[in-house]
Formats: sequence, structure tokens, C-alpha cells
Amino acid sequence: MKPEWQEWASQAKAEFPQANSALMPLMHRIQLVEGWLSDETIQDIADLMGVTVQYVESVASFYSLFHREPVGKRVIHVCVGLSCALAGSDELMHNLEKRLHIKEGQTTADGAYTLLEAECLAACDKAPMTQIDLRFVGPIRPEDVDTLLNKEVPS
Ligand code: FES
Repeated sequence: MKPEWQEWASQAKAEFPQANSALMPLMHRIQLVEGWLSDETIQDIADLMGVTVQYVESVASFYSLFHREPVGKRVIHVCVGLSCALAGSDELMHNLEKRLHIKEGQTTADGAYTLLEAECLAACDKAPMTQIDLRFVGPIRPEDVDTLLNKEVPS
């Protein structure tokens, strides 16, 4: 456990009346620095928050914003929800796989990109919707893969 995590946990708990509500902000803060949440990190977070490992694991596995494996420098999520599917997200994903030479769920050999699918991102009016590093980018037409990959998003 990194020394600063204790302080981060205290800060998160102080912000929310229920300690459980502080869990996701703490997980997010740690992931921003670590890049992903390892088994050891999940255990540390459970200890810090006084909840079970299984509880932290369930939160980490439910939300696509948490990574349980190392990811690339940039993480691209392509929404595969109904509205986005109807607007061409399957073709967009296919074009990204071709362009990056990886399949969904994988990271490029140079560690530059990880490509993941996401369920409805709650931006159906801009289908097909994507996220780069959790920032909304869309609509992105299937033929506009380069536009997506060259997009500058604030960190
Ligand atoms: S289905 Fe893609 S944002 Fe809702």
C-alpha cells in the first residue's frame, strides 16, 4: 500500500456521510495513479474502507471505468448499447480493431491503446458514442477512426 492512500481514504470518507459512498472516488483516485487495480490494490482498498474484498471486487467488475488488468496509455471504450449498435458501433469497433491490429479487450503491442466495449454510456443522442480515457467523444462514424485516434482530450 502506498503511504498516501491512507490519507486519500480519510479525505474520501470525510467528503461523504456514508463510508461506502467514498469507495468509488478512492478507487478512481488510486487507479488514476496506478493505471489499474491489481488484486493487491483491491485488498488494500478493502482494508482502507473497512469492507470486504468481494465488495470492492464487485464494484470494480461492474463499472467499465475500472480496470482489473494493465491497460494502454489511452483507453478507448466503444459503446455497444442498442442506440449505438443501430448507428454503426459494430462497424466502428471492427474498423478500430483493424486499424490498431488488436481485438476488443486487448492492448496494442506498443502499449499505446487499449480497446474495450462499454454498455450504454448514457449519451444515446450522440450515437455511436465512444470514450477516450473516460472523456466522451462522439458521435464517431465508423469511417472516422482516424478522427477518433487523433482526438486530443483533456487529461
Ligand atoms: S446506447 Fe450508446 S450511449 Fe446509449
